[in-house]
Amino acid sequence: MVKQKVIQAFINEFGSNPEFLTHSPGRVNIIGEHTDYNDGFVLPMAINYSAWIALRPRDDLRVQVTALDKKEKLDLDLSDYKKGTGGWREYITGVAWALQDAGHELKGWEGVFSGDVPIGAGLSSSAALELALTRAFALVSDLEWDPVQMSLICQKAENLWVGINSGIMDQMISSSGKEGFALMIDCRSLKTKQVPLPKDTQLLILDTTTRRGLADSAYNERQAQCEAVACHFDKKSLRDITLDQLEERAGILDLLLYRRAQHVISENQRVLDAVKALQNGDPAALGQLMNESHASMRDDFEISRKEMDQMVAIAQSQPGCYGARMTGGGFGGCAVALVAEDQIESFQEKVVQDYREKIGLESKVYPSFAVNGTGFEVLSQKI
Ligand code: GLA
Repeated sequence: MVKQKVIQAFINEFGSNPEFLTHSPGRVNIIGEHTDYNDGFVLPMAINYSAWIALRPRDDLRVQVTALDKKEKLDLDLSDYKKGTGGWREYITGVAWALQDAGHELKGWEGVFSGDVPIGAGLSSSAALELALTRAFALVSDLEWDPVQMSLICQKAENLWVGINSGIMDQMISSSGKEGFALMIDCRSLKTKQVPLPKDTQLLILDTTTRRGLADSAYNERQAQCEAVACHFDKKSLRDITLDQLEERAGILDLLLYRRAQHVISENQRVLDAVKALQNGDPAALGQLMNESHASMRDDFEISRKEMDQMVAIAQSQPGCYGARMTGGGFGGCAVALVAEDQIESFQEKVVQDYREKIGLESKVYPSFAVNGTGFEVLSQKI
Protein backbone atom coordinates (compact mmCIF):
# COMPACT_ATOMS: atom_id res chain seq x y z
CA MET A 1 0.00 0.00 0.00
CA VAL A 2 1.30 3.43 -0.97
CA LYS A 3 0.40 4.89 2.43
CA GLN A 4 2.65 2.43 4.30
CA LYS A 5 5.33 2.86 1.68
CA VAL A 6 5.60 6.64 2.14
CA ILE A 7 5.52 6.34 5.94
CA GLN A 8 8.33 3.79 5.92
CA ALA A 9 10.38 5.80 3.42
CA PHE A 10 9.97 8.91 5.56
CA ILE A 11 11.21 7.02 8.63
CA ASN A 12 14.19 5.69 6.69
CA GLU A 13 15.10 9.12 5.39
CA PHE A 14 14.40 11.37 8.36
CA GLY A 15 14.86 8.99 11.27
CA SER A 16 11.48 9.71 12.84
CA ASN A 17 7.79 9.40 12.10
CA PRO A 18 6.08 11.87 9.76
CA GLU A 19 3.60 14.28 11.38
CA PHE A 20 1.15 14.38 8.53
CA LEU A 21 0.00 12.36 5.57
CA THR A 22 -1.76 14.02 2.67
CA HIS A 23 -3.39 12.25 -0.23
CA SER A 24 -5.45 13.03 -3.30
CA PRO A 25 -7.01 10.70 -5.87
CA GLY A 26 -6.82 10.39 -9.64
CA ARG A 27 -10.05 10.33 -11.58
CA VAL A 28 -11.94 8.60 -14.31
CA ASN A 29 -14.28 10.70 -16.38
CA ILE A 30 -17.51 8.78 -16.96
CA ILE A 31 -18.77 11.22 -19.59
CA GLY A 32 -18.21 14.85 -20.67
CA GLU A 33 -14.94 15.09 -22.59
CA HIS A 34 -13.37 18.38 -23.71
CA THR A 35 -16.37 20.19 -22.28
CA ASP A 36 -14.65 21.68 -19.20
CA TYR A 37 -12.74 24.43 -21.01
CA ASN A 38 -15.95 25.23 -22.91
CA ASP A 39 -17.69 26.16 -19.62
CA GLY A 40 -19.69 22.93 -19.91
CA PHE A 41 -20.56 19.86 -17.84
CA VAL A 42 -18.49 16.83 -16.83
CA LEU A 43 -19.27 13.69 -14.84
CA PRO A 44 -16.10 12.21 -13.35
CA MET A 45 -15.49 10.19 -10.20
CA ALA A 46 -12.44 10.18 -7.93
CA ILE A 47 -10.83 6.74 -8.03
CA ASN A 48 -9.10 4.36 -5.64
CA TYR A 49 -5.63 5.30 -6.93
CA SER A 50 -3.92 8.29 -5.29
CA ALA A 51 -0.85 10.41 -4.69
CA TRP A 52 0.43 10.26 -1.07
CA ILE A 53 2.85 12.50 0.83
CA ALA A 54 4.36 11.83 4.28
CA LEU A 55 5.76 15.02 5.78
CA ARG A 56 6.69 17.19 8.72
CA PRO A 57 6.94 20.99 8.98
CA ARG A 58 10.27 22.81 9.02
CA ASP A 59 11.18 26.01 10.85
CA ASP A 60 12.57 27.68 7.75
CA LEU A 61 11.41 28.35 4.19
CA ARG A 62 12.84 25.23 2.62
CA VAL A 63 10.83 22.45 1.03
CA GLN A 64 12.82 19.23 0.74
CA VAL A 65 10.99 16.48 -1.06
CA THR A 66 11.95 13.02 -2.29
CA ALA A 67 10.07 11.46 -5.20
CA LEU A 68 10.17 7.88 -4.00
CA ASP A 69 9.59 6.07 -7.25
CA LYS A 70 12.10 8.14 -9.19
CA LYS A 71 14.59 8.27 -6.31
CA GLU A 72 15.06 11.98 -7.00
CA LYS A 73 15.08 14.97 -4.67
CA LEU A 74 14.13 18.62 -4.69
CA ASP A 75 15.47 21.25 -2.31
CA LEU A 76 13.43 24.40 -2.74
CA ASP A 77 13.88 27.79 -1.09
CA LEU A 78 10.40 29.36 -0.94
CA SER A 79 11.88 32.85 -1.12
CA ASP A 80 13.98 32.24 -4.23
CA TYR A 81 13.10 29.83 -7.03
CA LYS A 82 12.52 29.80 -10.76
CA LYS A 83 10.78 27.82 -13.47
CA GLY A 84 12.70 25.14 -15.28
CA THR A 85 13.50 22.57 -12.56
CA GLY A 86 11.86 20.02 -14.88
CA GLY A 87 9.53 17.00 -14.54
CA TRP A 88 7.78 16.40 -11.21
CA ARG A 89 9.72 19.23 -9.52
CA GLU A 90 7.82 21.72 -11.66
CA TYR A 91 4.59 20.71 -9.90
CA ILE A 92 6.02 21.57 -6.48
CA THR A 93 7.46 24.91 -7.52
CA GLY A 94 4.31 25.57 -9.55
CA VAL A 95 1.94 24.92 -6.66
CA ALA A 96 4.14 27.00 -4.32
CA TRP A 97 4.14 29.84 -6.85
CA ALA A 98 0.36 29.72 -7.40
CA LEU A 99 -0.32 29.70 -3.63
CA GLN A 100 2.06 32.60 -3.02
CA ASP A 101 0.67 34.46 -6.01
CA ALA A 102 -2.80 34.15 -4.43
CA GLY A 103 -1.40 35.90 -1.34
CA HIS A 104 -0.78 32.87 0.91
CA GLU A 105 2.23 32.91 3.20
CA LEU A 106 3.93 29.55 2.96
CA LYS A 107 6.10 27.68 5.43
CA GLY A 108 8.65 24.96 4.69
CA TRP A 109 8.32 21.19 5.09
CA GLU A 110 10.14 18.00 4.30
CA GLY A 111 8.75 14.73 3.10
CA VAL A 112 8.45 11.95 0.56
CA PHE A 113 5.81 11.22 -2.03
CA SER A 114 4.63 8.34 -4.13
CA GLY A 115 1.43 7.28 -5.84
CA ASP A 116 -0.35 4.54 -7.70
CA VAL A 117 -2.25 6.59 -10.29
CA PRO A 118 -0.91 5.28 -13.62
CA ILE A 119 1.12 8.09 -15.22
CA GLY A 120 0.19 9.46 -18.65
CA ALA A 121 -2.86 7.18 -18.82
CA GLY A 122 -5.50 9.93 -18.76
CA LEU A 123 -6.33 9.34 -15.08
CA SER A 124 -5.01 12.68 -13.77
CA SER A 125 -1.92 11.65 -11.87
CA SER A 126 -0.74 15.28 -12.06
CA ALA A 127 -3.89 16.77 -10.55
CA ALA A 128 -3.62 14.16 -7.75
CA LEU A 129 -0.05 15.25 -7.04
CA GLU A 130 -0.90 18.96 -7.22
CA LEU A 131 -3.72 18.61 -4.71
CA ALA A 132 -1.73 16.40 -2.32
CA LEU A 133 1.07 19.01 -2.44
CA THR A 134 -1.33 21.89 -1.91
CA ARG A 135 -2.84 20.05 1.06
CA ALA A 136 0.68 19.66 2.49
CA PHE A 137 1.41 23.38 2.09
CA ALA A 138 -2.00 24.24 3.59
CA LEU A 139 -1.37 22.04 6.65
CA VAL A 140 2.07 23.35 7.52
CA SER A 141 1.17 26.95 6.70
CA ASP A 142 -2.20 26.86 8.45
CA LEU A 143 -4.23 27.86 5.37
CA GLU A 144 -7.97 27.53 5.21
CA TRP A 145 -8.95 24.60 2.96
CA ASP A 146 -11.54 25.48 0.35
CA PRO A 147 -11.55 22.67 -2.27
CA VAL A 148 -12.82 24.88 -5.10
CA GLN A 149 -10.32 27.70 -4.47
CA MET A 150 -7.50 25.20 -4.09
CA SER A 151 -8.51 23.50 -7.35
CA LEU A 152 -8.30 26.84 -9.13
CA ILE A 153 -4.86 27.44 -7.65
CA CYS A 154 -3.67 24.03 -8.86
CA GLN A 155 -5.10 24.65 -12.31
CA LYS A 156 -3.24 27.97 -12.42
CA ALA A 157 -0.02 26.17 -11.48
CA GLU A 158 -0.58 23.67 -14.26
CA ASN A 159 -1.56 26.28 -16.90
CA LEU A 160 0.83 29.11 -16.13
CA TRP A 161 3.79 27.37 -14.51
CA VAL A 162 3.96 23.82 -15.85
CA GLY A 163 2.60 25.13 -19.16
CA ILE A 164 -0.20 22.64 -19.80
CA ASN A 165 -3.50 24.13 -20.92
CA SER A 166 -5.90 21.90 -18.98
CA GLY A 167 -9.46 22.74 -17.93
CA ILE A 168 -10.71 22.59 -14.33
CA MET A 169 -12.20 19.07 -14.26
CA ASP A 170 -9.20 17.10 -12.98
CA GLN A 171 -8.42 19.37 -10.04
CA MET A 172 -12.09 19.75 -9.09
CA ILE A 173 -12.76 16.03 -8.93
CA SER A 174 -9.48 15.25 -7.17
CA SER A 175 -10.26 17.83 -4.47
CA SER A 176 -14.00 17.26 -4.18
CA GLY A 177 -14.76 13.61 -5.02
CA LYS A 178 -17.29 11.77 -2.81
CA GLU A 179 -17.13 8.14 -1.80
CA GLY A 180 -19.77 6.12 -3.67
CA PHE A 181 -20.76 8.97 -6.00
CA ALA A 182 -19.90 10.44 -9.36
CA LEU A 183 -19.76 14.23 -9.38
CA MET A 184 -21.49 16.36 -11.97
CA ILE A 185 -19.48 19.55 -12.25
CA ASP A 186 -20.76 22.67 -13.91
CA CYS A 187 -17.44 24.05 -15.11
CA ARG A 188 -18.86 27.56 -15.42
CA SER A 189 -20.26 28.01 -11.91
CA LEU A 190 -18.03 25.30 -10.35
CA LYS A 191 -21.11 23.98 -8.57
CA THR A 192 -21.11 20.22 -8.08
CA LYS A 193 -23.85 17.62 -7.70
CA GLN A 194 -23.36 14.14 -6.25
CA VAL A 195 -24.85 11.49 -8.49
CA PRO A 196 -25.35 7.89 -7.30
CA LEU A 197 -23.63 5.14 -9.27
CA PRO A 198 -25.79 2.29 -10.60
CA LYS A 199 -26.27 -0.71 -8.32
CA ASP A 200 -24.80 -4.09 -9.28
CA THR A 201 -22.39 -2.56 -11.79
CA GLN A 202 -18.76 -1.54 -11.76
CA LEU A 203 -16.73 0.92 -13.80
CA LEU A 204 -13.66 -0.77 -15.18
CA ILE A 205 -10.75 1.26 -16.49
CA LEU A 206 -9.15 -0.37 -19.52
CA ASP A 207 -5.60 0.78 -20.17
CA THR A 208 -4.69 0.44 -23.85
CA THR A 209 -1.06 1.05 -22.74
CA THR A 210 -0.74 3.48 -25.64
CA ARG A 211 0.31 6.95 -24.52
CA ARG A 212 -0.48 10.43 -25.70
CA GLY A 213 2.66 11.38 -27.62
CA LEU A 214 2.16 14.76 -29.23
CA ALA A 215 -1.22 15.27 -27.62
CA ASP A 216 -0.47 18.64 -26.01
CA SER A 217 -0.42 20.46 -29.31
CA ALA A 218 -3.58 18.64 -30.44
CA TYR A 219 -5.29 19.59 -27.15
CA ASN A 220 -4.41 23.26 -27.67
CA GLU A 221 -5.58 23.05 -31.26
CA ARG A 222 -8.98 21.66 -30.15
CA GLN A 223 -9.30 24.50 -27.61
CA ALA A 224 -8.55 27.07 -30.30
CA GLN A 225 -11.11 25.49 -32.65
CA CYS A 226 -13.79 25.61 -29.95
CA GLU A 227 -12.97 29.25 -29.24
CA ALA A 228 -13.16 30.07 -32.94
CA VAL A 229 -16.73 28.73 -33.12
CA ALA A 230 -17.78 30.60 -29.96
CA CYS A 231 -16.26 33.73 -31.48
CA HIS A 232 -18.12 33.17 -34.75
CA PHE A 233 -21.38 33.19 -32.75
CA ASP A 234 -20.15 36.15 -30.71
CA LYS A 235 -20.56 34.09 -27.52
CA LYS A 236 -18.28 33.52 -24.57
CA SER A 237 -18.06 29.77 -25.05
CA LEU A 238 -19.71 26.75 -26.70
CA ARG A 239 -21.84 26.37 -23.57
CA ASP A 240 -23.89 29.29 -24.87
CA ILE A 241 -24.73 27.73 -28.24
CA THR A 242 -27.45 25.16 -28.94
CA LEU A 243 -27.34 22.40 -31.52
CA ASP A 244 -30.13 24.15 -33.44
CA GLN A 245 -28.11 27.36 -33.63
CA LEU A 246 -25.11 25.40 -34.82
CA GLU A 247 -27.23 23.64 -37.43
CA GLU A 248 -28.46 26.99 -38.80
CA ARG A 249 -24.86 27.95 -39.63
CA ALA A 250 -23.90 24.53 -40.96
CA GLY A 251 -23.33 25.82 -44.48
CA ILE A 252 -21.37 28.89 -43.40
CA LEU A 253 -19.05 27.42 -40.78
CA ASP A 254 -15.95 25.55 -41.83
CA LEU A 255 -16.89 21.83 -41.75
CA LEU A 256 -14.09 20.88 -39.36
CA LEU A 257 -15.07 23.60 -36.88
CA TYR A 258 -18.71 22.55 -37.22
CA ARG A 259 -17.83 18.96 -36.25
CA ARG A 260 -15.69 20.06 -33.29
CA ALA A 261 -18.56 22.16 -31.97
CA GLN A 262 -21.06 19.38 -32.68
CA HIS A 263 -19.09 17.12 -30.34
CA VAL A 264 -18.87 19.61 -27.49
CA ILE A 265 -22.48 20.79 -27.61
CA SER A 266 -23.90 17.26 -27.92
CA GLU A 267 -21.51 16.01 -25.21
CA ASN A 268 -22.84 18.63 -22.80
CA GLN A 269 -26.35 17.31 -23.40
CA ARG A 270 -25.14 13.72 -22.92
CA VAL A 271 -23.76 14.65 -19.50
CA LEU A 272 -27.13 16.06 -18.46
CA ASP A 273 -28.85 12.94 -19.81
CA ALA A 274 -26.34 10.70 -18.03
CA VAL A 275 -27.14 12.40 -14.73
CA LYS A 276 -30.84 11.66 -15.33
CA ALA A 277 -30.02 8.04 -16.21
CA LEU A 278 -28.09 7.65 -12.97
CA GLN A 279 -30.80 9.30 -10.92
CA ASN A 280 -33.27 6.84 -12.47
CA GLY A 281 -30.92 3.93 -11.69
CA ASP A 282 -30.78 3.07 -15.40
CA PRO A 283 -27.35 1.65 -16.34
CA ALA A 284 -28.52 0.75 -19.86
CA ALA A 285 -29.32 4.41 -20.63
CA LEU A 286 -25.97 5.51 -19.21
CA GLY A 287 -24.15 2.86 -21.25
CA GLN A 288 -25.84 4.01 -24.45
CA LEU A 289 -24.73 7.60 -23.80
CA MET A 290 -21.17 6.41 -23.18
CA ASN A 291 -21.18 4.62 -26.54
CA GLU A 292 -22.51 7.73 -28.27
CA SER A 293 -19.87 9.83 -26.55
CA HIS A 294 -17.12 7.59 -27.89
CA ALA A 295 -18.45 7.81 -31.45
CA SER A 296 -18.56 11.59 -31.17
CA MET A 297 -14.96 11.77 -29.90
CA ARG A 298 -13.81 9.39 -32.62
CA ASP A 299 -15.66 10.90 -35.60
CA ASP A 300 -16.27 14.58 -34.81
CA PHE A 301 -13.65 15.63 -32.28
CA GLU A 302 -11.07 13.17 -33.66
CA ILE A 303 -9.16 12.51 -30.46
CA SER A 304 -9.17 8.72 -30.50
CA ARG A 305 -6.76 6.28 -32.14
CA LYS A 306 -6.94 2.83 -33.69
CA GLU A 307 -5.94 0.89 -30.53
CA MET A 308 -8.47 2.83 -28.46
CA ASP A 309 -11.31 2.30 -30.93
CA GLN A 310 -10.51 -1.39 -30.95
CA MET A 311 -10.46 -1.58 -27.15
CA VAL A 312 -13.80 0.23 -26.91
CA ALA A 313 -15.38 -2.00 -29.58
CA ILE A 314 -14.11 -5.14 -27.80
CA ALA A 315 -15.52 -3.93 -24.48
CA GLN A 316 -18.86 -2.92 -26.00
CA SER A 317 -19.34 -6.37 -27.54
CA GLN A 318 -18.92 -8.31 -24.26
CA PRO A 319 -21.89 -9.76 -22.38
CA GLY A 320 -22.75 -7.63 -19.35
CA CYS A 321 -21.17 -4.45 -20.77
CA TYR A 322 -23.67 -1.56 -20.77
CA GLY A 323 -21.33 0.83 -22.58
CA ALA A 324 -17.74 1.97 -23.04
CA ARG A 325 -15.80 5.01 -24.20
CA MET A 326 -12.40 6.59 -24.19
CA THR A 327 -11.77 8.69 -21.08
CA GLY A 328 -9.52 11.72 -20.56
CA GLY A 329 -7.78 14.07 -22.95
CA GLY A 330 -7.42 11.57 -25.79
CA PHE A 331 -4.90 10.09 -28.23
CA GLY A 332 -4.25 7.06 -26.03
CA GLY A 333 -4.50 6.07 -22.40
CA CYS A 334 -7.61 4.46 -20.98
CA ALA A 335 -11.17 3.56 -21.84
CA VAL A 336 -13.90 3.18 -19.23
CA ALA A 337 -16.59 0.51 -19.35
CA LEU A 338 -19.74 0.07 -17.29
CA VAL A 339 -20.09 -3.65 -16.57
CA ALA A 340 -22.62 -5.79 -14.69
CA GLU A 341 -20.99 -6.96 -11.46
CA ASP A 342 -21.65 -10.65 -12.08
CA GLN A 343 -19.84 -10.53 -15.46
CA ILE A 344 -16.71 -8.71 -14.38
CA GLU A 345 -14.34 -11.65 -14.27
CA SER A 346 -15.15 -13.02 -17.69
CA PHE A 347 -15.28 -9.48 -19.09
CA GLN A 348 -11.73 -8.73 -17.92
CA GLU A 349 -10.33 -11.97 -19.24
CA LYS A 350 -12.01 -11.66 -22.61
CA VAL A 351 -11.07 -7.99 -23.13
CA VAL A 352 -7.39 -8.57 -22.37
CA GLN A 353 -7.31 -11.63 -24.62
CA ASP A 354 -9.14 -10.04 -27.57
CA TYR A 355 -7.05 -6.87 -27.37
CA ARG A 356 -3.87 -8.94 -27.38
CA GLU A 357 -5.07 -10.88 -30.42
CA LYS A 358 -6.23 -7.84 -32.38
CA ILE A 359 -3.63 -5.23 -31.41
CA GLY A 360 -0.72 -7.29 -30.13
CA LEU A 361 -0.38 -5.30 -26.89
CA GLU A 362 -0.84 -6.29 -23.25
CA SER A 363 -3.61 -4.16 -21.75
CA LYS A 364 -4.32 -3.60 -18.07
CA VAL A 365 -7.67 -3.49 -16.29
CA TYR A 366 -8.10 -1.35 -13.16
CA PRO A 367 -11.30 -2.05 -11.23
CA SER A 368 -12.40 1.31 -9.88
CA PHE A 369 -14.74 2.68 -7.26
CA ALA A 370 -15.54 6.21 -6.15
CA VAL A 371 -13.54 7.61 -3.22
CA ASN A 372 -13.38 10.92 -1.35
CA GLY A 373 -11.26 13.79 -2.64
CA THR A 374 -8.13 15.35 -1.11
CA GLY A 375 -7.57 14.46 2.54
CA PHE A 376 -4.99 14.28 5.29
CA GLU A 377 -4.15 12.41 8.47
CA VAL A 378 -2.37 13.66 11.55
CA LEU A 379 -0.16 10.86 12.77
CA SER A 380 0.44 10.11 16.40
CA GLN A 381 4.13 9.91 17.24
CA LYS A 382 3.98 6.13 17.51
CA ILE A 383 3.07 4.19 14.41
C1 GLA B 1 -7.49 16.57 -19.85
C2 GLA B 1 -7.60 17.94 -19.18
C3 GLA B 1 -9.03 18.16 -18.65
C4 GLA B 1 -10.06 17.90 -19.72
C5 GLA B 1 -9.81 16.56 -20.39
C6 GLA B 1 -10.73 16.31 -21.54
O1 GLA B 1 -7.64 15.57 -18.89
O2 GLA B 1 -6.69 18.02 -18.12
O3 GLA B 1 -9.12 19.47 -18.14
O4 GLA B 1 -10.08 18.94 -20.66
O5 GLA B 1 -8.48 16.45 -20.86
O6 GLA B 1 -12.03 16.19 -21.11
